Amino acid sequence: MTEEKVNRKTKPTVLDIFCGAGGMSLGFRNAGCQILGGIDQNRYAINTHHQNFPLAKLKLPPQDIRDLRDLDTLGLNAGEVDILVGGPPCQVFSRVGIGKMRKLGRDIEADHRNFLYKEFVRFVAYYKPLCFVMENVDYLANREEALARIYKDFSRSNRKGYPGYKVNYQVLDASEFGVPQKRMRLFIIGIRSDLGIEPPFPNRRVKSAISVGEAICDLPDLEPWVMPLKTKSSGPKQQDVECPYKCLPQSPYQEKMRKQKQEGEGVWNHLCRAHNEKDIMIFGMLDQGGKYRDLPEEVMRYRADIFDDKYKRLIWNKPAWTLTAHMRKDGLAYIHPLQDRSISVREAARIQSFPDDFVFYAPMTRMFELVGNSVPPILAKEVAKPLVKLIKSCRER
Ligand SMILES: C[S@@+](CC[C@H](N)C(=O)[O-])C[C@H]1O[C@@H](n2cnc3c(N)ncnc32)[C@H](O)[C@@H]1O
Repeated sequence: MTEEKVNRKTKPTVLDIFCGAGGMSLGFRNAGCQILGGIDQNRYAINTHHQNFPLAKLKLPPQDIRDLRDLDTLGLNAGEVDILVGGPPCQVFSRVGIGKMRKLGRDIEADHRNFLYKEFVRFVAYYKPLCFVMENVDYLANREEALARIYKDFSRSNRKGYPGYKVNYQVLDASEFGVPQKRMRLFIIGIRSDLGIEPPFPNRRVKSAISVGEAICDLPDLEPWVMPLKTKSSGPKQQDVECPYKCLPQSPYQEKMRKQKQEGEGVWNHLCRAHNEKDIMIFGMLDQGGKYRDLPEEVMRYRADIFDDKYKRLIWNKPAWTLTAHMRKDGLAYIHPLQDRSISVREAARIQSFPDDFVFYAPMTRMFELVGNSVPPILAKEVAKPLVKLIKSCRER
């Protein structure tokens, strides 16, 4: 019998929708689940997911989930999915996203991204998984109406054939679970009503938070990549090559990140964006934790009250602040604590707790987007653990 067949019989199965690169998938796999596949419209996300989950049964092309109308043709039977996980886009629930939309005079309530969670409800109604996990920004907790609407859609059991779910949510901070990053995210967990169990959440670990230094100090130093003058282009493309590590692992966290690496193997995705010479000079003026407003007036090019957060230098002995998909546009809010450049993709991946054997397959800016969008795999694993336990105990009943 193949490994996959054995796993399918024994491991809880997971379908990941709005899967991104697969931070959530990886956490659930590491908690002992079998990943059936991922759905996403972003081709770089799908390619990265396919490469990192080669045993997944479904290998779907990138597609808008709203176009997948007939789930009978997807290749999975109802009942085959034990856990449905996913992170529908969060812009419309985030403080920044709402602010931007207001500025542009857009109707927040009419934005289709307010309703993408309904695709999640549609998948729950079709597969009737034992449980589901939907991740979103913590600001959703302040949007009482939106949250109440989501709860209602998941819990009601009056629809024909829909079992109904017991639903609850918690806001979790990744740094309390061994991720070197302060990242607050809201997790909605639903348990099928017929199981008669309340949604379980992980217990916070009270250990001291992992710092940026503990996370990245074994990665090779990089010279700042200087952007050629008088052009917006970053010049010749950097090649993603396997770089030798700077040294042996220096912390238990680094040992964990390198666990699957064989002796002599190097690290991929250690790519850093180009900066113009003026920016590189400005980075040198920022202390760790320093922001744009701390700069001398003569080098300020933007209004300090608006661009207060534009440049920020990470702090070596503290966890990072939240990484976001904005890293795709610029890395100025994530300046390396000791080197005058923004962090590399691999450094960002370490801060998101992706181990080094998880490789991103995309152009550099898109890699930053995938990393910034993801659920830290270590946090996802903690969320998964009580659900795996619950499913195993249901099977033994
Ligand atoms: C917050 S990210 C998910 C991150 C993922 N959970 C992880 O841990 O890596 C949201 C994802 O939803 C995808 N997405 C947005 N709208 C979509 C749609 N209509 N159909 C399919 N995917 C969509 C985006 O491409 C993005 O990768």
